[in-house]
Amino acid sequence: MMRTRDPTIRLTVAITRSSSAPVPVAGRIHRFSYAIRNIVAEAKRVEAQGTRVRYLNIGDPVAFGFKTPAHLIAAVERAMRDGHNGYGPSAGIAPAREAVAEEFTSRGFPVSADRVFITAGTSEAIDLVLAALVDEQSEVLVPMPTYPLYTAVLAKLGTRARFYRCDPARGWAPDVDELRGLITPSTRAIVVIDPNNPTGASYSIATRRALLEIAEEHGLVVLADEVYGDLGYDGPVPSIGSLDPDAAIISFSSMSKAYLAPGWRTGWMGIGRSPRLNDAVAAVAKMADGRLCSTLPMQYAVADALRGDRSHQITFRAALLERATITAERLNAIPGISCVRPVAGFYAMPKVALPPGRTDEEFVLALLRATGVLCVYGSGFGMPAGDGFMRIVFLAAPDDLRDIYQLVADFTRDYLQRE
Ligand SMILES: Cc1ncc(COP(=O)(O)O)c(C=O)c1O
Repeated sequence: MMRTRDPTIRLTVAITRSSSAPVPVAGRIHRFSYAIRNIVAEAKRVEAQGTRVRYLNIGDPVAFGFKTPAHLIAAVERAMRDGHNGYGPSAGIAPAREAVAEEFTSRGFPVSADRVFITAGTSEAIDLVLAALVDEQSEVLVPMPTYPLYTAVLAKLGTRARFYRCDPARGWAPDVDELRGLITPSTRAIVVIDPNNPTGASYSIATRRALLEIAEEHGLVVLADEVYGDLGYDGPVPSIGSLDPDAAIISFSSMSKAYLAPGWRTGWMGIGRSPRLNDAVAAVAKMADGRLCSTLPMQYAVADALRGDRSHQITFRAALLERATITAERLNAIPGISCVRPVAGFYAMPKVALPPGRTDEEFVLALLRATGVLCVYGSGFGMPAGDGFMRIVFLAAPDDLRDIYQLVADFTRDYLQRE
């Protein structure tokens, strides 16, 4: 008679373990840093001790009560109900690509739909483009301060980031003469973040033109991060590509900021019409194939976003202007703090006149522990730690911001007296 095995009995195999050493992690992990999220670990400890933490570290408007427009939510719901829940084309669905091409073109930067890729946010677009265009020997010019994703991705790729300085004394404009001097035969690209995170700046036409001229002169590609392009307080900021539609420019944007849907992870890139970028289009397409596609139902909201009602942006820009004004006025009234007034987006980068030997990280951590106010230290964006910069996300309600800046004022007075 055949005996059936009792399924509850597990067969275990004795494995000899020769080592208790941790599984090694890659060397690149030590070069990869993302201060905006890293600092949250300390905030959680402070919270666990009973202090209310005011999270001014992440630029997520939804977390501060700004609502995703209803017609965009309806478009995603409809797409799901209509069964668009499978994989999509790796470059994105045609209606979304066409709407993005139309949007770029209407802003003076002509892009055809076959040179548009729909991605998991601007973040994935940046990752795909850098992976497609630079190798270990390359150098990429990145603003200082920078949005840290650029340096993180470049570190992952083993590529060198070279910082060009942006100058707070000139409204955080890039120092184009210094930038010119940083170009070497290995330079491949200039990252231009305009409007800017973390500084809240937007550049003059003369500065934008100078950046394009330098890039064209040296055969470089401009990676134009325009994710805050609709959030200039005076109205949408033109794409840098409108100044020279034939320059080698790749522009990025997304639904995250101006369409109030960062969690959808839906963004795009438009690769300019310059024939110098034809190989780049093919290289990006290859990289995009490798990750199959970006989230499909959300792509069905892109055309509605770009062609539909944008009245939420008028309200949002007015709310941002009010907060930027409070931020600049309150911070500049604190002895020892100076702050360039932002002109777009929802970030400011004040400077604290630190005593010699002190770092921005020490200041930010001390502020967090004493008051629960969580900002990100400037060195997390590539600034020298002794310069005393920190980045503030000013999306909180005006009254909350006033309370927060009072806490910052009281703390800074004590800190600067004490240290
Ligand atoms: C300058 C800049 N680029 C890119 C991103 C990433 O945005 P997304 O949500 O589109 O990936 C951000 C997000 O804060 C940003 O500030």
